[in-house]
Amino acid sequence: MTQAFRLRPFEDGDFLRVEGDRLLFEGADLTALASEYGTPLFVYSARRLRENARGLQTAFRRHHPKTSVCFASKACANLSVLRLVGEEGVDLEVNSGGELAKARHAGFDSSRLVFNGVAKSEAEIVLALDPPIKAINVDSPFELSRIAAVASQRGVRANVALRGVPGVEGGSTAGIETGSTRSKFGMTAEEIESCLALASGQPDAIAVVGLHVHIGSQMTDIGLYAEAARYVARQGAAIRERFPADFAHVNIGGGFPIDYVKYDDQAPEIGYFHSHIDAADIAATAVPILTDALGAGIEILTEPGRSMTSNAAVCLASVEGIKERAGTRWLYLDTGYSVLPESGFGWYFHMVTANRAADMETAQMRVVGPLCDSIDVYFDMEGESKLAALLAAEPALKAHEALLRSKLVHMPPMRELPAATGPGDVVAILDTGAYQIEMANHYCGRLRPAAVMVGENGGISFIRRRDTLEDLTAAEEF
Ligand SMILES: Cc1ncc(COP(=O)(O)O)c(C=O)c1O
Repeated sequence: MTQAFRLRPFEDGDFLRVEGDRLLFEGADLTALASEYGTPLFVYSARRLRENARGLQTAFRRHHPKTSVCFASKACANLSVLRLVGEEGVDLEVNSGGELAKARHAGFDSSRLVFNGVAKSEAEIVLALDPPIKAINVDSPFELSRIAAVASQRGVRANVALRGVPGVEGGSTAGIETGSTRSKFGMTAEEIESCLALASGQPDAIAVVGLHVHIGSQMTDIGLYAEAARYVARQGAAIRERFPADFAHVNIGGGFPIDYVKYDDQAPEIGYFHSHIDAADIAATAVPILTDALGAGIEILTEPGRSMTSNAAVCLASVEGIKERAGTRWLYLDTGYSVLPESGFGWYFHMVTANRAADMETAQMRVVGPLCDSIDVYFDMEGESKLAALLAAEPALKAHEALLRSKLVHMPPMRELPAATGPGDVVAILDTGAYQIEMANHYCGRLRPAAVMVGENGGISFIRRRDTLEDLTAAEEF
Protein backbone atom coordinates (compact mmCIF):
# COMPACT_ATOMS: atom_id res chain seq x y z
CA MET A 1 0.00 0.00 0.00
CA THR A 2 1.40 3.39 -0.88
CA GLN A 3 1.65 6.51 1.19
CA ALA A 4 -0.50 8.39 -1.32
CA PHE A 5 -3.27 5.80 -0.93
CA ARG A 6 -3.04 6.11 2.82
CA LEU A 7 -3.45 9.85 2.66
CA ARG A 8 -6.75 9.65 0.90
CA PRO A 9 -9.01 8.76 3.84
CA PHE A 10 -8.19 11.93 5.72
CA GLU A 11 -7.80 14.31 2.81
CA ASP A 12 -10.66 16.66 3.57
CA GLY A 13 -11.27 19.64 1.35
CA ASP A 14 -8.84 22.33 2.28
CA PHE A 15 -8.19 20.98 5.76
CA LEU A 16 -5.49 18.53 4.66
CA ARG A 17 -4.73 17.83 1.07
CA VAL A 18 -1.79 16.91 -1.09
CA GLU A 19 -0.74 19.23 -3.88
CA GLY A 20 2.31 18.20 -5.88
CA ASP A 21 4.58 16.65 -3.27
CA ARG A 22 3.43 18.98 -0.46
CA LEU A 23 0.93 18.53 2.33
CA LEU A 24 -1.34 21.57 2.59
CA PHE A 25 -3.31 22.54 5.71
CA GLU A 26 -6.24 24.86 5.04
CA GLY A 27 -4.40 25.74 1.83
CA ALA A 28 -1.17 26.64 3.67
CA ASP A 29 1.97 24.74 2.68
CA LEU A 30 3.12 23.07 5.92
CA THR A 31 6.71 22.73 4.72
CA ALA A 32 6.84 26.47 4.04
CA LEU A 33 5.32 27.22 7.46
CA ALA A 34 8.01 25.09 9.10
CA SER A 35 10.77 27.00 7.37
CA GLU A 36 9.20 30.38 8.10
CA TYR A 37 8.33 29.82 11.78
CA GLY A 38 10.73 27.01 12.72
CA THR A 39 9.88 23.71 14.42
CA PRO A 40 8.39 22.34 16.59
CA LEU A 41 5.37 24.32 15.44
CA PHE A 42 1.68 23.75 16.11
CA VAL A 43 -0.64 24.86 13.32
CA TYR A 44 -4.31 25.30 14.24
CA SER A 45 -7.26 25.73 11.93
CA ALA A 46 -9.80 28.40 12.92
CA ARG A 47 -12.36 26.85 10.60
CA ARG A 48 -12.03 23.37 12.10
CA LEU A 49 -12.27 24.77 15.64
CA ARG A 50 -15.49 26.57 14.78
CA GLU A 51 -16.86 23.46 13.07
CA ASN A 52 -16.09 21.38 16.14
CA ALA A 53 -17.64 23.95 18.48
CA ARG A 54 -20.82 24.03 16.39
CA GLY A 55 -20.85 20.28 15.79
CA LEU A 56 -20.55 19.39 19.47
CA GLN A 57 -23.40 21.73 20.37
CA THR A 58 -25.61 20.51 17.55
CA ALA A 59 -24.95 16.84 18.35
CA PHE A 60 -26.66 17.30 21.73
CA ARG A 61 -29.12 20.12 20.98
CA ARG A 62 -30.63 18.05 18.19
CA HIS A 63 -31.91 15.76 20.96
CA HIS A 64 -32.18 18.30 23.77
CA PRO A 65 -32.10 22.05 23.08
CA LYS A 66 -31.27 22.82 26.68
CA THR A 67 -27.67 21.59 26.42
CA SER A 68 -24.53 23.58 27.26
CA VAL A 69 -21.13 22.54 25.98
CA CYS A 70 -18.42 23.49 28.48
CA PHE A 71 -15.10 23.06 26.68
CA ALA A 72 -12.57 21.35 29.00
CA SER A 73 -9.99 24.10 28.75
CA LYS A 74 -7.19 21.83 30.01
CA ALA A 75 -7.20 20.39 26.50
CA CYS A 76 -6.06 23.71 25.07
CA ALA A 77 -6.29 26.89 27.12
CA ASN A 78 -4.64 29.04 24.49
CA LEU A 79 -6.34 32.45 24.65
CA SER A 80 -7.06 32.60 20.92
CA VAL A 81 -8.62 29.14 21.02
CA LEU A 82 -10.71 29.98 24.10
CA ARG A 83 -11.99 33.18 22.53
CA LEU A 84 -12.82 31.48 19.26
CA VAL A 85 -14.89 28.69 20.83
CA GLY A 86 -16.45 31.27 23.17
CA GLU A 87 -17.66 33.22 20.14
CA GLU A 88 -19.47 30.05 19.05
CA GLY A 89 -21.43 30.00 22.32
CA VAL A 90 -19.33 27.36 24.06
CA ASP A 91 -18.85 27.71 27.84
CA LEU A 92 -15.79 26.50 29.78
CA GLU A 93 -14.79 23.81 32.23
CA VAL A 94 -11.72 24.75 34.30
CA ASN A 95 -9.59 22.67 36.58
CA SER A 96 -7.59 25.14 38.65
CA GLY A 97 -7.53 28.72 39.81
CA GLY A 98 -5.11 29.37 36.95
CA GLU A 99 -7.53 28.10 34.33
CA LEU A 100 -10.33 30.02 36.03
CA ALA A 101 -8.34 33.24 35.88
CA LYS A 102 -7.40 32.55 32.27
CA ALA A 103 -11.04 31.90 31.35
CA ARG A 104 -12.10 35.24 32.84
CA HIS A 105 -9.15 36.92 31.11
CA ALA A 106 -10.38 35.46 27.81
CA GLY A 107 -13.76 37.12 28.44
CA PHE A 108 -15.91 34.32 29.89
CA ASP A 109 -18.17 35.57 32.64
CA SER A 110 -18.82 33.51 35.75
CA SER A 111 -22.19 32.21 34.58
CA ARG A 112 -20.31 30.32 31.82
CA LEU A 113 -17.83 28.48 34.06
CA VAL A 114 -17.78 25.14 35.84
CA PHE A 115 -14.84 24.18 38.04
CA ASN A 116 -13.57 20.61 38.54
CA GLY A 117 -10.69 19.29 40.59
CA VAL A 118 -9.96 16.95 43.46
CA ALA A 119 -7.92 19.27 45.67
CA LYS A 120 -9.24 22.81 45.38
CA SER A 121 -7.48 25.25 47.69
CA GLU A 122 -9.28 27.93 49.68
CA ALA A 123 -7.75 30.54 47.40
CA GLU A 124 -9.20 28.76 44.36
CA ILE A 125 -12.63 28.56 46.02
CA VAL A 126 -12.47 32.29 46.78
CA LEU A 127 -11.81 32.92 43.07
CA ALA A 128 -14.74 30.70 42.11
CA LEU A 129 -17.06 32.70 44.39
CA ASP A 130 -16.04 36.14 43.23
CA PRO A 131 -18.62 36.26 41.76
CA PRO A 132 -20.10 32.74 42.11
CA ILE A 133 -19.62 30.63 38.99
CA LYS A 134 -22.27 28.37 37.44
CA ALA A 135 -21.05 25.30 39.36
CA ILE A 136 -18.18 24.16 41.50
CA ASN A 137 -18.08 20.40 40.94
CA VAL A 138 -17.52 19.02 44.41
CA ASP A 139 -15.24 16.02 44.82
CA SER A 140 -15.63 15.18 48.54
CA PRO A 141 -17.66 16.03 51.66
CA PHE A 142 -14.50 17.69 53.04
CA GLU A 143 -14.36 19.95 50.01
CA LEU A 144 -18.04 20.86 50.38
CA SER A 145 -17.46 21.89 54.00
CA ARG A 146 -14.53 24.02 52.83
CA ILE A 147 -16.70 25.67 50.16
CA ALA A 148 -19.48 26.27 52.70
CA ALA A 149 -17.02 27.93 55.09
CA VAL A 150 -15.61 30.23 52.40
CA ALA A 151 -19.09 31.07 51.07
CA SER A 152 -20.44 31.91 54.56
CA GLN A 153 -17.42 34.07 55.30
CA ARG A 154 -18.01 36.02 52.11
CA GLY A 155 -21.78 36.13 52.47
CA VAL A 156 -22.44 34.44 49.13
CA ARG A 157 -24.21 31.25 48.07
CA ALA A 158 -22.02 28.76 46.23
CA ASN A 159 -23.54 26.83 43.33
CA VAL A 160 -22.30 23.26 43.57
CA ALA A 161 -22.73 20.11 41.53
CA LEU A 162 -21.79 16.83 43.18
CA ARG A 163 -19.33 14.64 41.29
CA GLY A 164 -20.47 11.06 41.54
CA VAL A 165 -18.62 7.84 40.78
CA PRO A 166 -20.80 5.95 38.33
CA GLY A 167 -18.77 2.77 38.86
CA VAL A 168 -18.01 2.52 35.16
CA GLU A 169 -15.05 0.25 34.44
CA GLY A 170 -13.07 -0.17 31.26
CA GLY A 171 -12.50 2.05 28.27
CA SER A 172 -9.09 3.45 27.52
CA THR A 173 -5.97 3.35 29.68
CA ALA A 174 -6.19 3.32 33.49
CA GLY A 175 -4.41 6.68 33.66
CA ILE A 176 -7.32 8.41 31.96
CA GLU A 177 -10.17 6.24 33.22
CA THR A 178 -11.96 8.22 35.88
CA GLY A 179 -15.38 6.66 36.44
CA SER A 180 -14.47 3.71 38.65
CA THR A 181 -14.11 3.56 42.43
CA ARG A 182 -10.44 2.62 41.89
CA SER A 183 -9.73 6.12 40.56
CA LYS A 184 -9.23 9.12 42.82
CA PHE A 185 -12.22 11.03 41.44
CA GLY A 186 -15.73 11.66 42.62
CA MET A 187 -17.98 10.42 45.40
CA THR A 188 -19.69 7.17 46.31
CA ALA A 189 -23.37 7.07 47.29
CA GLU A 190 -22.40 7.41 50.98
CA GLU A 191 -20.17 10.40 50.31
CA ILE A 192 -22.92 12.06 48.27
CA GLU A 193 -25.35 11.44 51.13
CA SER A 194 -22.95 13.22 53.52
CA CYS A 195 -22.83 16.18 51.12
CA LEU A 196 -26.63 16.33 50.92
CA ALA A 197 -26.88 16.39 54.70
CA LEU A 198 -24.25 19.12 54.89
CA ALA A 199 -25.98 21.19 52.20
CA SER A 200 -29.38 20.83 53.92
CA GLY A 201 -27.85 22.32 57.05
CA GLN A 202 -26.33 25.32 55.27
CA PRO A 203 -28.91 26.57 52.76
CA ASP A 204 -27.55 30.12 52.84
CA ALA A 205 -24.06 28.99 51.79
CA ILE A 206 -24.75 26.08 49.44
CA ALA A 207 -27.08 25.61 46.48
CA VAL A 208 -26.98 22.06 45.10
CA VAL A 209 -27.53 22.88 41.44
CA GLY A 210 -26.37 19.73 39.73
CA LEU A 211 -24.81 16.29 39.49
CA HIS A 212 -21.59 15.62 37.60
CA VAL A 213 -19.74 12.60 36.23
CA HIS A 214 -16.76 12.20 33.93
CA ILE A 215 -15.78 8.65 32.98
CA GLY A 216 -12.43 9.16 31.25
CA SER A 217 -10.84 10.28 28.00
CA GLN A 218 -10.99 8.72 24.52
CA MET A 219 -13.82 6.45 25.68
CA THR A 220 -14.66 4.37 22.61
CA ASP A 221 -17.28 2.08 24.18
CA ILE A 222 -20.77 3.53 23.82
CA GLY A 223 -22.02 1.12 26.48
CA LEU A 224 -20.00 2.98 29.12
CA TYR A 225 -21.82 6.21 28.29
CA ALA A 226 -25.17 4.44 28.55
CA GLU A 227 -24.16 3.08 31.96
CA ALA A 228 -22.98 6.50 33.13
CA ALA A 229 -26.21 8.13 31.88
CA ARG A 230 -28.33 5.57 33.76
CA TYR A 231 -26.40 6.38 36.93
CA VAL A 232 -26.87 10.14 36.38
CA ALA A 233 -30.58 9.69 35.68
CA ARG A 234 -31.10 7.67 38.87
CA GLN A 235 -28.89 9.70 41.18
CA GLY A 236 -29.97 13.02 39.64
CA ALA A 237 -33.65 12.26 40.27
CA ALA A 238 -32.87 11.38 43.89
CA ILE A 239 -30.90 14.59 44.52
CA ARG A 240 -33.54 16.72 42.81
CA GLU A 241 -36.17 15.37 45.21
CA ARG A 242 -34.14 16.76 48.08
CA PHE A 243 -33.34 20.15 46.47
CA PRO A 244 -36.16 20.79 43.97
CA ALA A 245 -35.73 24.57 43.93
CA ASP A 246 -32.00 24.61 43.14
CA PHE A 247 -31.29 21.43 41.19
CA ALA A 248 -31.13 22.45 37.52
CA HIS A 249 -28.54 20.42 35.60
CA VAL A 250 -26.79 17.13 35.06
CA ASN A 251 -23.27 17.11 33.66
CA ILE A 252 -22.07 14.01 31.79
CA GLY A 253 -18.46 15.20 31.44
CA GLY A 254 -16.31 14.66 28.36
CA GLY A 255 -14.16 11.85 27.05
CA PHE A 256 -15.73 11.79 23.58
CA PRO A 257 -13.25 9.96 21.35
CA ILE A 258 -11.75 10.92 18.04
CA ASP A 259 -10.33 8.60 15.40
CA TYR A 260 -6.54 8.96 15.41
CA VAL A 261 -6.07 6.24 12.81
CA LYS A 262 -5.93 7.29 9.19
CA TYR A 263 -5.72 4.04 7.31
CA ASP A 264 -7.43 0.67 7.33
CA ASP A 265 -4.68 -1.89 7.77
CA GLN A 266 -4.21 -1.04 11.41
CA ALA A 267 -1.77 -2.82 13.60
CA PRO A 268 -3.53 -4.79 16.37
CA GLU A 269 -1.83 -2.54 18.92
CA ILE A 270 -3.87 0.43 17.79
CA GLY A 271 -6.87 -0.43 20.04
CA TYR A 272 -8.71 2.56 21.42
CA PHE A 273 -6.96 5.06 19.12
CA HIS A 274 -9.35 3.85 16.45
CA SER A 275 -12.81 5.04 17.39
CA HIS A 276 -16.03 3.95 15.72
CA ILE A 277 -18.16 6.37 17.74
CA ASP A 278 -18.30 10.14 18.13
CA ALA A 279 -20.19 12.80 20.08
CA ALA A 280 -23.32 12.36 17.94
CA ASP A 281 -23.53 8.67 18.89
CA ILE A 282 -22.95 9.50 22.54
CA ALA A 283 -25.69 12.16 22.47
CA ALA A 284 -28.13 9.77 20.78
CA THR A 285 -27.49 7.20 23.51
CA ALA A 286 -27.23 9.34 26.64
CA VAL A 287 -29.78 12.11 26.13
CA PRO A 288 -32.94 9.96 25.99
CA ILE A 289 -31.89 8.15 29.16
CA LEU A 290 -31.46 11.50 30.92
CA THR A 291 -34.60 13.20 29.65
CA ASP A 292 -36.83 10.16 30.22
CA ALA A 293 -35.87 10.26 33.88
CA LEU A 294 -35.48 13.99 34.46
CA GLY A 295 -37.84 15.60 31.95
CA ALA A 296 -37.40 18.18 29.22
CA GLY A 297 -36.70 20.98 31.69
CA ILE A 298 -33.39 19.58 32.87
CA GLU A 299 -30.26 21.27 31.54
CA ILE A 300 -27.59 18.88 30.23
CA LEU A 301 -23.95 19.95 30.43
CA THR A 302 -21.09 18.28 28.58
CA GLU A 303 -17.35 18.84 28.95
CA PRO A 304 -15.58 17.81 25.75
CA GLY A 305 -11.88 18.60 25.51
CA ARG A 306 -10.11 16.23 23.13
CA SER A 307 -13.02 16.18 20.66
CA MET A 308 -13.04 20.00 20.51
CA THR A 309 -9.42 20.67 19.55
CA SER A 310 -7.42 17.49 18.74
CA ASN A 311 -8.23 17.28 15.07
CA ALA A 312 -7.94 21.05 14.61
CA ALA A 313 -4.13 21.10 14.69
CA VAL A 314 -0.99 19.44 13.45
CA CYS A 315 2.47 19.66 14.97
CA LEU A 316 5.38 20.12 12.60
CA ALA A 317 8.69 18.47 13.48
CA SER A 318 12.02 18.53 11.65
CA VAL A 319 14.02 15.40 11.00
CA GLU A 320 17.41 16.00 12.63
CA GLY A 321 19.08 12.62 12.29
CA ILE A 322 18.95 9.11 10.94
CA LYS A 323 20.56 5.81 11.93
CA GLU A 324 20.60 2.39 10.26
CA ARG A 325 21.00 -0.35 12.82
CA ALA A 326 20.75 -4.08 12.12
CA GLY A 327 18.51 -3.46 9.15
CA THR A 328 16.23 -1.03 10.99
CA ARG A 329 16.05 2.66 10.20
CA TRP A 330 15.75 5.10 13.10
CA LEU A 331 14.47 8.59 12.38
CA TYR A 332 15.33 11.33 14.89
CA LEU A 333 12.88 14.26 15.19
CA ASP A 334 13.46 17.57 16.98
CA THR A 335 10.10 16.97 18.71
CA GLY A 336 9.60 14.56 21.56
CA TYR A 337 7.52 14.24 24.67
CA SER A 338 8.47 17.68 26.00
CA VAL A 339 6.38 19.04 23.11
CA LEU A 340 3.93 16.13 22.68
CA PRO A 341 3.63 14.91 26.27
CA GLU A 342 0.94 12.37 25.47
CA SER A 343 3.44 10.55 23.25
CA GLY A 344 5.39 9.91 26.46
CA PHE A 345 2.27 8.16 27.84
CA GLY A 346 2.14 5.96 24.75
CA TRP A 347 -0.33 7.96 22.70
CA TYR A 348 -0.59 7.27 18.95
CA PHE A 349 -0.44 10.20 16.53
CA HIS A 350 -0.41 9.60 12.80
CA MET A 351 2.58 11.02 10.88
CA VAL A 352 3.04 12.21 7.31
CA THR A 353 6.21 13.59 5.72
CA ALA A 354 4.90 17.03 4.72
CA ASN A 355 7.39 17.65 1.90
CA ARG A 356 7.08 14.11 0.45
CA ALA A 357 3.36 13.62 0.87
CA ALA A 358 2.92 12.04 -2.55
CA ASP A 359 5.92 9.68 -2.48
CA MET A 360 4.82 6.22 -3.54
CA GLU A 361 7.75 4.32 -2.10
CA THR A 362 7.46 3.89 1.64
CA ALA A 363 9.49 2.19 4.35
CA GLN A 364 8.99 1.14 7.96
CA MET A 365 11.02 3.02 10.57
CA ARG A 366 11.44 3.55 14.28
CA VAL A 367 10.59 7.22 14.88
CA VAL A 368 12.00 8.86 18.02
CA GLY A 369 12.36 12.23 19.75
CA PRO A 370 15.45 14.15 20.85
CA LEU A 371 15.22 13.83 24.65
CA CYS A 372 17.61 11.82 26.79
CA ASP A 373 15.12 9.11 27.84
CA SER A 374 14.44 5.79 26.18
CA ILE A 375 10.70 6.45 26.42
CA ASP A 376 11.02 9.49 24.15
CA VAL A 377 9.94 7.42 21.16
CA TYR A 378 6.88 7.09 18.95
CA PHE A 379 6.42 3.44 19.79
CA ASP A 380 5.54 1.76 23.08
CA MET A 381 8.95 1.15 24.63
CA GLU A 382 7.46 0.11 28.00
CA GLY A 383 4.91 -2.27 26.51
CA GLU A 384 7.38 -3.87 24.11
CA SER A 385 9.85 -4.40 26.98
CA LYS A 386 7.19 -5.95 29.24
CA LEU A 387 6.14 -8.30 26.43
CA ALA A 388 9.75 -9.33 25.74
CA ALA A 389 10.37 -9.95 29.46
CA LEU A 390 7.26 -12.14 29.79
CA LEU A 391 8.13 -14.20 26.72
CA ALA A 392 11.69 -14.66 27.98
CA ALA A 393 10.45 -15.71 31.44
CA GLU A 394 7.86 -18.23 30.16
CA PRO A 395 8.39 -19.59 26.63
CA ALA A 396 4.92 -21.24 26.70
CA LEU A 397 3.45 -17.73 26.51
CA LYS A 398 4.69 -17.53 22.91
CA ALA A 399 1.44 -19.27 21.91
CA HIS A 400 -0.46 -16.24 23.30
CA GLU A 401 1.86 -13.57 21.96
CA ALA A 402 -0.82 -11.85 19.85
CA LEU A 403 -3.19 -11.56 22.82
CA LEU A 404 -0.43 -10.35 25.13
CA ARG A 405 0.70 -7.82 22.55
CA SER A 406 -2.82 -6.42 22.19
CA LYS A 407 -3.05 -5.96 25.98
CA LEU A 408 0.46 -4.68 26.66
CA VAL A 409 1.64 -2.80 23.60
CA HIS A 410 -0.33 0.31 22.67
CA MET A 411 1.41 1.59 19.57
CA PRO A 412 2.70 0.04 16.37
CA PRO A 413 6.45 -0.59 16.64
CA MET A 414 7.21 1.03 13.28
CA ARG A 415 5.90 3.99 11.29
CA GLU A 416 5.44 3.83 7.55
CA LEU A 417 6.80 6.96 5.93
CA PRO A 418 8.20 7.78 2.50
CA ALA A 419 11.41 5.76 2.18
CA ALA A 420 13.40 8.88 1.31
CA THR A 421 12.42 10.67 4.55
CA GLY A 422 15.58 11.98 6.17
CA PRO A 423 17.33 14.97 7.73
CA GLY A 424 15.93 18.30 6.60
CA ASP A 425 12.44 16.90 6.02
CA VAL A 426 9.33 18.04 7.88
CA VAL A 427 7.04 15.53 9.55
CA ALA A 428 3.45 16.57 10.24
CA ILE A 429 2.09 14.89 13.36
CA LEU A 430 -1.69 14.90 13.08
CA ASP A 431 -4.49 15.42 15.62
CA THR A 432 -2.22 17.09 18.15
CA GLY A 433 -4.48 20.03 19.03
CA ALA A 434 -5.44 18.78 22.52
CA TYR A 435 -3.36 18.17 25.64
CA GLN A 436 0.00 18.86 23.97
CA ILE A 437 0.81 22.59 24.20
CA GLU A 438 -0.85 22.62 27.63
CA MET A 439 1.47 19.92 28.95
CA ALA A 440 4.60 21.01 27.04
CA ASN A 441 7.58 21.71 29.26
CA HIS A 442 11.20 22.79 29.35
CA TYR A 443 12.65 19.34 30.05
CA CYS A 444 16.20 18.92 28.75
CA GLY A 445 16.39 22.67 28.17
CA ARG A 446 13.95 22.40 25.27
CA LEU A 447 11.98 25.52 24.39
CA ARG A 448 8.23 25.23 24.53
CA PRO A 449 6.83 25.40 21.00
CA ALA A 450 5.27 28.20 19.01
CA ALA A 451 1.76 27.95 17.58
CA VAL A 452 0.09 29.67 14.65
CA MET A 453 -3.49 29.66 13.47
CA VAL A 454 -4.66 29.60 9.87
CA GLY A 455 -7.64 31.96 9.78
CA GLU A 456 -10.79 31.52 7.77
CA ASN A 457 -9.41 34.01 5.24
CA GLY A 458 -6.21 31.94 4.91
CA GLY A 459 -4.12 34.44 6.91
CA ILE A 460 -1.59 33.09 9.40
CA SER A 461 -1.38 34.55 12.90
CA PHE A 462 0.77 33.74 15.88
CA ILE A 463 -1.25 32.39 18.79
CA ARG A 464 1.74 31.46 20.94
CA ARG A 465 5.30 32.64 20.68
CA ARG A 466 8.12 30.13 20.99
CA ASP A 467 9.98 30.27 24.29
CA THR A 468 13.32 31.99 24.16
CA LEU A 469 16.58 30.97 25.81
CA GLU A 470 15.84 33.77 28.32
CA ASP A 471 12.63 31.95 29.31
CA LEU A 472 14.81 29.07 30.50
CA THR A 473 16.57 31.27 33.04
CA ALA A 474 14.16 34.12 33.77
CA ALA A 475 12.28 32.49 36.67
CA GLU A 476 15.50 31.45 38.40
CA GLU A 477 17.47 34.68 38.15
CA PHE A 478 16.96 37.01 41.13
C1 LIG B 1 -13.70 16.51 34.68
C2 LIG B 1 -13.27 16.45 33.28
N1 LIG B 1 -14.12 16.85 32.33
C3 LIG B 1 -13.78 16.82 31.02
C4 LIG B 1 -12.54 16.37 30.63
C5 LIG B 1 -12.24 16.36 29.16
O1 LIG B 1 -12.02 15.07 28.69
P1 LIG B 1 -11.81 14.85 27.12
O2 LIG B 1 -10.70 15.75 26.72
O3 LIG B 1 -11.43 13.43 26.98
O4 LIG B 1 -13.07 15.19 26.45
C6 LIG B 1 -11.63 15.94 31.58
C7 LIG B 1 -10.33 15.43 31.16
O5 LIG B 1 -9.51 15.00 31.90
C8 LIG B 1 -12.00 15.99 32.95
O6 LIG B 1 -11.16 15.59 33.90
